[in-house]
This record gives sequence, C-alpha cells and structure tokens, in this order.
Amino acid sequence: MAEVATVKTPRHVAIIMDGNGRWAKKRLLPRSAGHSAGMNRMIGLAERAKKLGIRYLTVYALSTENLARPKDELDGLYSLIKKYFLKNVDALIGGGAALRVAGNLSLLPEDVRQVVNQGVARSPKDAEFTFCIALAYGSRREIADACSAAVSDGAAITEQEISSRLYTAGMPDPDLIIRTGGEKRLSNFLLWQAAYAELYFSDVLFPDFTDECLDMAIADYSGRVRRFGKL
Ligand code: IPE
Ligand code: IPE
Ligand code: MG
Repeated sequence: MAEVATVKTPRHVAIIMDGNGRWAKKRLLPRSAGHSAGMNRMIGLAERAKKLGIRYLTVYALSTENLARPKDELDGLYSLIKKYFLKNVDALIGGGAALRVAGNLSLLPEDVRQVVNQGVARSPKDAEFTFCIALAYGSRREIADACSAAVSDGAAITEQEISSRLYTAGMPDPDLIIRTGGEKRLSNFLLWQAAYAELYFSDVLFPDFTDECLDMAIADYSGRVRRFGKL
C-alpha cells in the first residue's frame, strides 16, 4: 500500500548517483558492473520514491563532463541506458509515471536518443510521479542556453524567463539533493534550481544506497528547518 505523503515529504528529490566505479573496484569487477548495479538501484529508488509520495525524482546519470570518459565506458553506459529504458523505465511509465529528460540529447548517439525520446513521448500528461533523468547534462550550459533563448525570444532576462527555459521548466525546484559516494560537491548539477535545496551527503556508494538509505535521507530532511532567508 502506498504510504501517505506528509507535509514534510519533499516534493522533489534529486540524486547525484556517484560511486559506481569504486563499488566495482572494491569487488575486483569492471566499472561496467558498477554501472549496471547502479542502474538497478536507480529503478529501485524510483519505485520507492513513488511509494513515499515524492512527486518528482531527478537522477544525475551522465554529465557533459562524463562524455570525456573512455569510449568503452561510455559505450557500456549507453547500452545499459537502452536496456533499462526499454524494460524498467518502460514499466515505470506503464505504472503511470511520467518520464522527463534533462540534458543536451544531441550529444548522445542516435539510438540512445531515440529510446529516451520514445519514453518521453509515451508518458502520461498528468502523472502523480515524474521520473526525470539527467543525461548529457551540464548546468552552466543549461543556464547559458536558457539566457540565449530568452534573448532570441525578445524576453527580459528575469528569473522567471530563465527558469521557464531550463530543461526542468514546469517542475518545482528540488527540495532535497542527495549525493552518494562520499564527495561533497554538485559537479555542475542543477546549479540554478538548487538555490534553496537542502543538501544531504552520504558516504554510501550508489549501488549500495538502499531504499532504507533513501528513507533515512528523507527523515533527515523532515527534521530540518527551511527558512528561505526569513526569520
Ligand atoms: C557515477 O559513478 C556514475 C557516472 C558518473 C556515470 P562513477 O562512475 O563516477 O563512480 P566513481 O566515482 O568512479 O566511483
Ligand atoms: C557526477 O559524478 C556525475 C554523475 C553522477 C552523473 P562524477 O563522478 O562525474 O563527479 P566528479 O568528477 O567526482 O565531480
Ligand atoms: Mg564519480
């Protein structure tokens, strides 16, 4: 049975899924095994988030900076993305979730782009749960592109005009950003949208970040006081 969302349930949670490579290394496995375990966990966490009444889950799966990694690692990641989109993400959509993508998809191979776009096209309009995947994503570029678009539309450069031209247009800003894997940085993720996000850093490597780990992060969030600069 779905658990009921409380006032303290974050509406939008974003996760920087880091630590797949180290997880594999610890087990003397190739990095691709870490990415595969990570994809599995990503789907598990999406299901958990939906059950908890979180409305939006955004996951950072591939940064523009990651595109400079060796070709064999990227090829492995692309085939995993295709596999998980065709099966698990499709099942999420079948269960009523909407899929969104944040990122510069033109930087991805055509077959990956097609699979991802098909999922977006198949998504229901008024879903209670939106799964947003950041692929070939870079936040500075996103902001610069939004400003350029505003200029060519003849719009004023206001916060609203910029927000409405980001990949995440129409989504609320993240309430909580979780980073797994021990690093304490944003790595070019949601820099604009994170203005008032609560940050949660976990040393757990992403493939080991269980549903209970997510619950703990949410519990931690629930205990925080968000002042938004007021008294
Ligand atoms: C995060 O895991 C997933 C991607 C960036 C694609 P990493 O691949 O960065 O794993 P570590 O940080 O090397 O352990
Ligand atoms: C951030 O992880 C990007 C994703 C999780 C997709 P990285 O492993 O690429 O980040 P850095 O290089 O440690 O900052
Ligand atoms: Mg990393």
